Amino acid sequence: MSWFVNLYRSTIGKKIIMAVTGLIGIGFVLVHMLGNLQVFIGQDKFDAYAAMLHGPLAEVVWGLRIVLIVAVVLHVLMAWQLTQRARAARPVDYRMREPQVSTWASRTMRWGGVLLLVFIVFHILHFTVGVIDPAHAFHETDALGRHDIYGDVVASFRIWWVSAFYIVAMIFLGLHLFHGAWSSLRTLGVAHPSAHPLKRRISAAIAIIVWLGFTLVPLGVIAGIVH
Ligand code: HEM
Repeated sequence: MSWFVNLYRSTIGKKIIMAVTGLIGIGFVLVHMLGNLQVFIGQDKFDAYAAMLHGPLAEVVWGLRIVLIVAVVLHVLMAWQLTQRARAARPVDYRMREPQVSTWASRTMRWGGVLLLVFIVFHILHFTVGVIDPAHAFHETDALGRHDIYGDVVASFRIWWVSAFYIVAMIFLGLHLFHGAWSSLRTLGVAHPSAHPLKRRISAAIAIIVWLGFTLVPLGVIAGIVH
């Protein structure tokens, strides 16, 4: 156990925890995105999918929720601790701070990450708990008496500021994943420096797929394709 405590205390250990928990998050968003795209099949399919998650698969979902909550808490905690360490190592900022090789994605990791955290809290209160219910549709049921999550999604994204908030948050999610996926592979030693960084292209592909897959839902509602 002491090896784990030593690893946890070291800077590289914290980076490894960030990388592993980040990859768990990427796995979740890919599965969640595929689930969401069923909204294009129609109300029956989407409500049935949600009912399955809350019914027969409820225990599996709870197991995954616990893994995800632990991963998010550790990810945020490590980000906080690594930021504090970086600040302690260089209390006075660089006098010249013209970006040289950094990308916009890498420079927005910290406050972009905070914005994503705000989004996730809002999002769970919106579609899972229903405390935030801008469309007054959370408690509706469909023709089969199931929770009409499809109707809630459609009614919510018809409200311009809800769609705008989700669309902007998805841009930050894409940027976070672009840099995060790549740097986690670097931390774990999977991606070695090379003149043809394949891993960079894989990260870009993951970021674009996730960004587009999520963004298509509010865009589909705005365009009237999902109604
Ligand atoms: C347009 C984008 C999105 C849509 C339409 C969407 C839709 C939904 C819906 C309908 C639910 C409730 C499912 C149910 O209870 O039956 C949900 C839950 C959830 N979503 Fe999303 N989602 C989106 C983006 C995201 C993103 C980007 C993340 C994470 C970064 C995320 C994380 C979650 C989490 C953690 C839950 C709670 C799962 C649970 O414990 O039940 N969602 N989402």
